[in-house]
Amino acid sequence: MQTPDDTISHQSIPDELIRIAREARAVAVITGAGISNESGIPTFRGTGSAHNENWRGVSSKDLATPEAFARDPRLVWEWYDWRRGLCAAAAPNAAHQIVTAMDRHYPEFLLITQNVDNLHRRAGTTRLVELHGNIFRARCTRTGRSFPMPDEIPLREVPLRSPFVPDALARPDIVWFGETYDERNLNQCLDFLSKADLIVVVGTSGMVPMPVYLTRHGVSAGAVAVDVNPEVSALTEVSQYYLEGKAGQVLPEFWRRVVAGD
Ligand code: OAD
Repeated sequence: MQTPDDTISHQSIPDELIRIAREARAVAVITGAGISNESGIPTFRGTGSAHNENWRGVSSKDLATPEAFARDPRLVWEWYDWRRGLCAAAAPNAAHQIVTAMDRHYPEFLLITQNVDNLHRRAGTTRLVELHGNIFRARCTRTGRSFPMPDEIPLREVPLRSPFVPDALARPDIVWFGETYDERNLNQCLDFLSKADLIVVVGTSGMVPMPVYLTRHGVSAGAVAVDVNPEVSALTEVSQYYLEGKAGQVLPEFWRRVVAGD
């Protein structure tokens, strides 16, 4: 009997897309919070966001900002400490593993992730840009110098202090709402997308516009894009293909067909 989770079947992935993925040389994968949802990490919006939308009655968009940190660094650190605990306890899922298989398979590959959860690295993906930073790193608010967080969870003392400058605070090494992207990271993504044959977009809502912009950039330079998500979004509109469903089910089936040659 077919369950709703089995909706992506052999037949529903177009043969033409499989052919394109087989012939591609340069492949980009763009991921958002949805790819980690099956690892137990809540998304920010849409499917899978239930526990994250309101932490202690405060929404994530009111915590992940420089203003929130200036107002109440302890609260922001407590929220990140809670999320860091979730990330540390989670394990990469089947979808993260497929991204790693793609990294190993294609001569040219780049994973562009908005996720800060470190699960792609833990799954073994090596050619990647973490557009929004990494929750296991912090940086000095005075010098901007980044450093790995201490291992203890929760932190013994919040807010975390800079190890470099006496009396300075540290902050999560994350790009917050209202902050600019690292220019070198962004240029690396744009350069790669200009030459990509295929872009696989997974689990991003497009409410933060960067993945839509990046995908559109790649498509206008000639790439074919496919959006993998249980819900349609602005990413679906800019992509030529849409595979409806959960990443942990769709990506293994997609990849099985690409490598199996059937
Ligand atoms: P969102 O939380 O906005 O969107 C998550 C998307 O994942 C939604 O479109 C869901 O439908 C989809 N989704 C849920 N479960 C899925 C599954 N099992 N497989 C595939 N897709 C699934 O996440 P992002 O687009 O990543 O920034 O959000 C962008 C940024 O906004 C985040 O990086 C974060 C947030 O503020 C920072 O933390 C700096």
